[in-house]
This record gives sequence, C-alpha cells and structure tokens, in this order.
Amino acid sequence: MLYNIKALLEKAREGRWAVGSFSVANMEMVLGVLKAAEETQSPVILQIAEVRLKQSPLEIIGPLMVAAAKNASVPVAVHFDHGLTFEKIKQALEIGFTSVMFDGSHLPLEENIEKTKETVALALRYGAAVEAEIGCVGGSEDGSEEIAINCTSPAQAVEFVEETQVDALAIAIGNAHGNYKQTPHLRFDILEEIRTKVDVPLVLHGGTGILPEEFKKCRENGIKKINIATATFDSVQQSVKKAYAEGKIKGYYDLQAAEVEGAYVNALKHIEIFDCAGKAQLI
Ligand code: 13P
Repeated sequence: MLYNIKALLEKAREGRWAVGSFSVANMEMVLGVLKAAEETQSPVILQIAEVRLKQSPLEIIGPLMVAAAKNASVPVAVHFDHGLTFEKIKQALEIGFTSVMFDGSHLPLEENIEKTKETVALALRYGAAVEAEIGCVGGSEDGSEEIAINCTSPAQAVEFVEETQVDALAIAIGNAHGNYKQTPHLRFDILEEIRTKVDVPLVLHGGTGILPEEFKKCRENGIKKINIATATFDSVQQSVKKAYAEGKIKGYYDLQAAEVEGAYVNALKHIEIFDCAGKAQLI
C-alpha cells in the first residue's frame, strides 16, 4: 500500500518508535526491504538519493519503487532523498513519490529557506510531503566528500520550520553518512532542545553504525524517520560474498537471492531496533 510519509510519521509520533527509511539501488534491495516489513508487519520507507541516480536512473527505479509499494501488504512511503535540483525533485513527484527532500543544508540559511519554500509549494501540487535539513550531517551520501559535522542550532530550527512549513526536519546532532571512523555519540542535549521547540517529526540521517541504545534514545525523543543506506549496501555485499564462499551460487538467480537476503537481514535488524514491528496495523 502506497502511503504518504506524513501518515507514517504522525502515527510514530504517538508512540516511542520510528520508521526505517531504507536506501535502495535495485529491485533485489526493494524486495528484501519489503519482505522484512511484511514479515514483521511494519510500515517502511523506500528511498533513493539524487547522487545515486548515476547507477540507478530515476525513470527506471522510481516506477519500480512505487509499484512495489502499491503491491505491498503494509504501508510503504516512497521518498526522494537528498534532492539537489528542482528538475529531479519534480521528476520524482511526477513518478508518484509521496515525499521529497530538498537538501539545502550546504547553503546559507536564507537561501535554504527560500528554496525549501519553493519545494513545499511544488510538492503541494502533488499532495506530497517535504523533508529539509539544517545544520550539516557529516560525510556525504555517496562518500565522495568529507563534510564536517555542524550541529543544528535549535533557534534556527524554529525559524526554519515556521518559515518553510516543512513536514519533517533532518537535524545534525553528531551523525554522519557512511561508516563512522569512531563510535558516534549523539548530542541528545541538542535533540531535546529542538524537540521541545519544533513541532514536526525529526529525521536522523547517517543511521549506519549508530548504537542500538542511541537509536532508542532518538526514537523516544522526537526522531521519527531514520535513514539507513551504507548498512544495506554492506549487508548485500556480505551476503553475496558469503553465498559464494559457501558454494551456494550455482547461477545468476542464486546471486539475486543472496542480494535480496542481504537487504532483508539488514532491514529486519533495524526494524527491531526502531521498535517498528507490528505497527502497520496502527496506520
Ligand atoms: P548511512 O549511509 O550512514 O546509513 O546514511 C544514510 C542516509 O542518511 C541517507 O540519507
């Protein structure tokens, strides 16, 4: 069932759980994530970032993601992650994505506000929701840059949400994209301040490598969407390597099955940590 992300996040706000937003690059990853969601009766978000379209063209993977969501027995939102250009954001909306992110976190605040407002106006025409980001999550979505972490200012978060009317806000509290060099320790003092001042669901990027107890504190304190990308890709690679090492790959279809399994195992693990299992029936 294809759902607007707002329905999922608003329901999560009533409890202490969060929805996993899993980055996918091909059909096997989509199938693996949805298998985990259906088996555990969890709502879930499928997403792809603009930087990944070099490998997975939006006009091909986008309709696949939307079709898979419609075909699922649990609520699934389809999200365009880290949108950088209006051209691609509009294309995702045309395809039927139910939410888009405009990532202006690298821009001066005023410019980020203006461009986010334009995205909100555009998405409204499609009945879709918008996520935006202020502060700087470290690293970069495709691992190509070493962006330094710059924690979100709670005062700026208030101004940003009031001005833009976004549906979800991604914040920087010591989190970073990719595999962490050291175990991250998040700034729960900043999260607490933002949560008490800002009345929208909060989003945590850079989910790979965050400790289960830190995820728990996040979902109990306003983080309602958690993005996982690198962990999915790593899990798929490991599953394929293991299947080869165990002599289980006799032909192409075994390789495909190992990919589905890798995405499934990773999604299952995070769904449990996010306490999302069984929540489909609430939506
Ligand atoms: P990771 O690759 O660290 O899981 O980050 C995912 C993400 O935030 C995608 O937007």
